Amino acid sequence: MSILQLKPLHPFAAEATGIDLRNPLTPAQIKSVEDAMDQHAVLVFRNQPLTQSQQIEFAKSLGPLDMGLRKLKGGPHRLEYAELADISNVKVDGEVADREHAKIVGNVANQLWHSDSSFQNPRAKYSMLSAVTLPNFGGNTEFADLRMAWDGLPEWLKRQVEGLKAVHYALHSRFLLGDTQYTEEQRQTIAPATWPLVQTDPRTGRKILFVGIHACEIEGMTLAEGRMLLLDLMEHATQRQYVYAHQWQVGDLVMWDNTATVHRGRWFDFAERRELRRATTEEVPA
Ligand code: OGA
Ligand code: MN
Repeated sequence: MSILQLKPLHPFAAEATGIDLRNPLTPAQIKSVEDAMDQHAVLVFRNQPLTQSQQIEFAKSLGPLDMGLRKLKGGPHRLEYAELADISNVKVDGEVADREHAKIVGNVANQLWHSDSSFQNPRAKYSMLSAVTLPNFGGNTEFADLRMAWDGLPEWLKRQVEGLKAVHYALHSRFLLGDTQYTEEQRQTIAPATWPLVQTDPRTGRKILFVGIHACEIEGMTLAEGRMLLLDLMEHATQRQYVYAHQWQVGDLVMWDNTATVHRGRWFDFAERRELRRATTEEVPA
């Protein structure tokens, strides 16, 4: 039986080989992936171009699926399965969307540091992103390790943030980008979620500084002071030494732990086609 082999790419990211993700995973293989994720938080599988159903089956073997914001948007879905998020600048008709198209603001929002679905409870655990078509230049995805971020905080700041809770709201990043055309009903559809700013991973016992662009308020603080603290913490957490930058190849599948990392897409020319597909699992409380 094939076993997972890991080659470190960064202190918290590794290239994984030895498992064919097209086939159903055995319990031992699932455990090896979960254990590797505890250690690394980002795994890169090269040359594994999965079909949409293979990608869904792989994700399902690691937990219940997260459906993200799709319940808010409705509308036609470009992919075969609603379980997959369409991370692309392509319209339902298969053409690259114009820069003014409503879809593009979602592409831009993905370029802000975030943890997928942190505005929901349950939030996302693993995201699995598969590269289908890539632009000629740009469009990397970067990851920052929030466990290393916690470890690197000065003691006085650790004491200050321990016990605080942050409110995460789905539309905060959209409002920041001027995407404000939502009805009151849509604004209410996804109620904010509240998460402790400092968390302990039940599997590894490591502490995590759980920040990201969806965090927009600190409970019990003024909006201004809370937001400033969140901006400072995010700046700390995303220093270059905590960041792995992934340069995509077609057929890559990159998997990350949303409870232990933030990520962001990087600039690419929206006139070029960029198509990735994401399956995401929900966190199952310990
Ligand atoms: C995502 C995401 C960034 C990118 O798929 O969740 O944020 O580079 N992607 O496309
Ligand atoms: Mn994302």
